[in-house]
Amino acid sequence: MYYFDHSATTPVHSDVLDLMHSIQKDVYGNPSSVHSQGRKARLLIETARKQVAKAIGTIPNQIIFTSGGTEANNQVFWSLLNQNNIHVVSDTIEHPAILKVLSEMETHGIDYDLVTVNKNGRISIADIESEIQENTGLISIMLANNEMGTIQPIKEIVALAHENNILVHSDAVQCMGKMPVDVNDLGVDYLSLSAHKFYGPKGIGILYFKNKDSLSSLMIGGGQEKGLRAGTENIASIAGMGLAAELVTNQLDHHIKELASFEAHFKSELKTIFPNAIFNGDANNKLPGLVCVSFPGYRSDILMAKLDRANLAVSSGSACGSGNVKPSRVLSEMGVDDETNISTLRFSFGASNTSEQVDLLLFELKTILTD
Ligand SMILES: Cc1ncc(COP(=O)(O)O)c(C=O)c1O
Repeated sequence: MYYFDHSATTPVHSDVLDLMHSIQKDVYGNPSSVHSQGRKARLLIETARKQVAKAIGTIPNQIIFTSGGTEANNQVFWSLLNQNNIHVVSDTIEHPAILKVLSEMETHGIDYDLVTVNKNGRISIADIESEIQENTGLISIMLANNEMGTIQPIKEIVALAHENNILVHSDAVQCMGKMPVDVNDLGVDYLSLSAHKFYGPKGIGILYFKNKDSLSSLMIGGGQEKGLRAGTENIASIAGMGLAAELVTNQLDHHIKELASFEAHFKSELKTIFPNAIFNGDANNKLPGLVCVSFPGYRSDILMAKLDRANLAVSSGSACGSGNVKPSRVLSEMGVDDETNISTLRFSFGASNTSEQVDLLLFELKTILTD
């Protein structure tokens, strides 16, 4: 199987696997225990915290470990319940781990507005400005989108928000290893990350915060993670994520170059094979290696099944269920018509790919599209 679905999840780096395996085998102490087994476990956690902090340009005590991006997002939002009468600004192409949370929070009295995006999936600062109200307490905008990779102008959004005493959260789950994620440079107050998107294990993630006092715990119990996330820590996964963060940031320039070169080659060859291909997203502001393509006249579920039969894993831009292809909500928000929408595939390249694999993918696409 050749894998071109790295935006869904990534294979775990072999060094990370080795580390996690040895920890599962040898380090069984509870990190809250004071004996040497406990201290060994604690050391692993704090080493990982340093690695992650360095990877995103911050200090260890501004990070807690969560079960992933979904939990990190939820924690920021549910913490708002402790503040009276808060209004939130977000946008229409966020992940469900933001949009469904907001809609649920509405039933608890939290009010919100969503800004729309242009045809390339970019948000305008003016649109955000016009949604700011006197009681707006949080603006949450993803750093880059998971379906077509458009990067949002977070620094400008932060500048506007801070002028108005509003905090900013960014879901940066798609970004580690594909662009610099430096919380100081971005200026955000909270940021969410997930290890399985950067060659770490699944079920573990990071919440960065500038100020601990603005957060409350979703998990109530022991005092782990500075009282912000109760429950005995997942030591092997935390350590694995720390190493994955270090590896991916040490190799960042190389990764970006390689992803950009896969993308450029893939796009130019695809245009020759299938001149009607439509590339969705913002060519000037996008994650490298994530290519969202519409194939007018074809159905994405059928294309995907044919590629799967050829042992090539890609993803559909739209959600499939019981034989029906539903248009992608994100592409609809960008103004893509339903017919084009359901003809869309997402190819996301990654460290497990080679240029030969990309050529094989192109060869299969040519066979399928000229059949
Ligand atoms: C943009 C974005 N946010 C959040 C998530 C959820 O992250 P996790 O799977 O770690 O809960 C994803 C995963 O697909 C994502 O792409």
